[in-house]
Amino acid sequence: MNRHLLSINDLSRADIDSVLATARKDFLELSQRDIKKVPTLRGRTIIDLFYEKSTRTSTSFELAGKRLSADVINVKSGYSAAGKGESLKDTVLTLNAYRPDIIVIRHPHVGAAAFISRFTRAHVISAGDGKGEHPTQCLLDIFSLTQAYGSLDGLKVAIVGDILHSRVARSNLLGFQKMGMEVTLIAPPALLPRGVEALGADVSHSLADLANVDVIYLLRLQKERHQGANFMPSLREYIDRYCVGRRHVRPGQRVLHPGPINRGVEIESGLADSEENMILEQVEAGLAVRMALLYRIIVDNAVPAATSELKDEKSQAANERFTFHV
Ligand code: NCD
Repeated sequence: MNRHLLSINDLSRADIDSVLATARKDFLELSQRDIKKVPTLRGRTIIDLFYEKSTRTSTSFELAGKRLSADVINVKSGYSAAGKGESLKDTVLTLNAYRPDIIVIRHPHVGAAAFISRFTRAHVISAGDGKGEHPTQCLLDIFSLTQAYGSLDGLKVAIVGDILHSRVARSNLLGFQKMGMEVTLIAPPALLPRGVEALGADVSHSLADLANVDVIYLLRLQKERHQGANFMPSLREYIDRYCVGRRHVRPGQRVLHPGPINRGVEIESGLADSEENMILEQVEAGLAVRMALLYRIIVDNAVPAATSELKDEKSQAANERFTFHV
């Protein structure tokens, strides 16, 4: 496995299979036990750096590190020195002085995770960079689907909603295809990236095409990235055309959603409360998969410290030319 997980493309299909096998074999069942902790990462340090709102991703990364017995530090932007004008680079150089093994970062800017990987010896895991990518969401979705369907080769999935602003759509389109799935994107034209067909997905503007797939993957309207622009005539019209309810789901189809759900916007309440959706199974999978990833990224990259490229972070950082300012 690569040193960092910044994009789902940092993982080969074999890497994905092996991380998911570790999650299934070693960590899934741990949550059923009374004592949910193992000593696997005792003495290791993990820093979770969250510059954007998060419930599922931040709690599961924190819990994953703690259940592996690592020392876990959570830094949330509202409470960090970022509010005192410190740049992202300086924050990471500061945290790197503690010699962490892993830094997990969620940030509103595309490329932020790749950017910080230049200033630390730690493995960097992206927990979402703006509308860029969300590789661990993709991993846990693939895990949830393999639990339900076995092999994913040839499985048809429709990703529905605000594709344009969704990092989950981007990672999942790449990841699902890597696993042999056929992807259809369903959205109003204004919420699809221009030229997305070139990535090998079918494109549709109608929920009628849900009839042709095995799996329905719903996305929230990412309003925080709309910046006041109107991507649809009205919310009412969007709901009429794209809100998915139980009547759209045929027997055998399963519905996924990364959360948070907006009931009555992209998913009807009846579907959100039904057996057809896998939303809470996805949350459960997220913990086991993130435990497996934290473990594997350290073990697979275990090399003598002397081979690290960053001998002196301070002089290295001083010589860098920065194109990324936060
Ligand atoms: C997603 C995200 O943050 O990109 N949520 C998550 O991580 N579970 C999707 C979203 O916010 O809509």
